Amino acid sequence: MKDEIKNIKTLEELQNLYTSVFGKNGSMTMKLKNMANLSNEERAVVNTENAELRQLFKEKQTEIENAVLNAKLANEYVDVSLDVEPENHGSIHPLTQSAKEVVNIFESLGYTLMEGPEIEDDWHNFTALNTPEYHPARDMQDTFFLENGNVMRTQTSAVQIRAMEKVGAPIKMFTIGQCYRKELDATHSCMFGQIEGLCVDSVEKKINLSDMLSTMRTFASRFFEKDDVELRIRPSYFPFTEPSIEIDMKFGDEWMELLCGGMVHPNVLKNCNIDPNKYQGFAFGFGWARLAMVKYGLDDIRAFTDSDVRWLKNTGF
Ligand code: DAH
Repeated sequence: MKDEIKNIKTLEELQNLYTSVFGKNGSMTMKLKNMANLSNEERAVVNTENAELRQLFKEKQTEIENAVLNAKLANEYVDVSLDVEPENHGSIHPLTQSAKEVVNIFESLGYTLMEGPEIEDDWHNFTALNTPEYHPARDMQDTFFLENGNVMRTQTSAVQIRAMEKVGAPIKMFTIGQCYRKELDATHSCMFGQIEGLCVDSVEKKINLSDMLSTMRTFASRFFEKDDVELRIRPSYFPFTEPSIEIDMKFGDEWMELLCGGMVHPNVLKNCNIDPNKYQGFAFGFGWARLAMVKYGLDDIRAFTDSDVRWLKNTGF
């Protein structure tokens, strides 16, 4: 029996032999059933034989299984040196990526993210922003008008009005969203993202332009991952801020416009039922795609919305 087990080559044969020994009518099964008729010595012999045979079957099974596995491994190996089709991984769009970074930075500075509609009424987009009908500053923005008199919002400044109407003062909010103007060239798109921020508090806190400047310095330093941010201020004009400024940032030898802003005009506060004798603050706005263009070294704003996968790949995203 022992030799028989040793010579077996397949699991199937082993199983058959096992059944003939340990199965219902198997030779060992019979012997065990007959134990009652045996002497102590004879029982000891049967017990030993039983244990030995079980051990042999077990060893043989492991041996055959290993042999089968080894044969399989020898035949079915993977050749890791073969050329394979490169996998296409999706990636986060550069605009989404920079939006996330902007949101993280302003939230960490204590600004609350708020939202407003992209179809805006005249009040929020212009009038409340100290730009009444026939004000020449309306010409600064080529507006898409809807038939019912509403507009596609031309600036996220509309959201600062909504925010102050809703929350009042003090307030520290920002928003990020799409705006629309009738202009299209390499640095302008009909639809473009803007970021708007507003910080208004009691006059006793004396919020002023230098607070805005240091906020912008912190923002620029974090967003562009630069310790030594060089900024310069130019005077500007917006109906909703007085004084109004534009802030440029130096990249290498070049100055790039970063954002616009100023001290919130008293009329704007009044339009939102906030007393300008009690509250003051600053507001700022900037182009979100421009930020991404500068940060990632891109030169055509239209490419952001062309959905050209080759372009996205070349941006390194
Ligand atoms: N809304 C302005 C624009 O689109 C940008 C801007 C300027 C926003 C000054 C502001 C600000 O909040 O204070 O050109």
